[in-house]
Amino acid sequence: MKHFSILPNLKNNCGMFSVKQLQAGLNTEFLGREVKYLEKTFSTNVDAWECFQTQKPEGTLIIADHQDKGRGRRQSKWYSSEGKSLTFSFMLQSKIALEKLGILPLLTGVSIVKGIYNMSNILLGLKWPNDIMVSRKKMGGILIESRTVKQEHSVVVGIGLNINESEDDIQDELQGQATSLHIESGEEFSRELILSSILNEFEKLYLNFWYDIIPLWLEYCIHENDKITFHSNNKIHQGTFRGITETGHAKIQINGKTETFSAGMVTL
Ligand code: BTN
Repeated sequence: MKHFSILPNLKNNCGMFSVKQLQAGLNTEFLGREVKYLEKTFSTNVDAWECFQTQKPEGTLIIADHQDKGRGRRQSKWYSSEGKSLTFSFMLQSKIALEKLGILPLLTGVSIVKGIYNMSNILLGLKWPNDIMVSRKKMGGILIESRTVKQEHSVVVGIGLNINESEDDIQDELQGQATSLHIESGEEFSRELILSSILNEFEKLYLNFWYDIIPLWLEYCIHENDKITFHSNNKIHQGTFRGITETGHAKIQINGKTETFSAGMVTL
């Protein structure tokens, strides 16, 4: 008797990224309906900003196999491995209310955790504001940029994820701090299936579930009520992470008093 598996083929196809396979996995209305694949680019965030000039539709996705100048948060560089990482950006042209912008990184983080769980059964964690964590090491990051023109907020969401990297692919200075799905599980994954699952989750949350983001984010947060070090405005605080406000700001208890911060970095 033949046994047919209903599980998707998670194996990495070890080749160029296939836009066809990605789009076959999408059930979105607007996200990823137009895709620009680049073997090599400077930064997909820069490319996504150019899409506004050429009037591409909302949700246009730029994906690259290699970035020469991948940008991270706080002026850092983002390193990725050709054919192994996922590095992509998409544009949201929408009239996102300003107060929602602080929630967008959290929504993005939740969609990554859910999207990867659907495809791998691996439950990742989140570190405020937008680090994707596994085994207390970073496996992904989110860089959201916004510009306001005539009271409309244009946004680029850029995401970098370590998927099929082995230990040797991790930069020397990041050894011990960064990891990949492959390092954690020993398995290889289809980047196309992982990406389609993330985009499906993102669009669902973005269109319908803004009000569920904070409890969902806290469910995946790996440091709620933990003692942490907090870097903000060139100051370093020791405190306890007490959750997030309804606008996505961090609540940190420092010397018995809870303060809120819109930006900063948590060290575990
Ligand atoms: C971080 O520092 O944690 C954020 C990293 C974001 C990296 C991604 S990779 C795709 C997109 N293009 C960039 O230049 N940066 C983002």
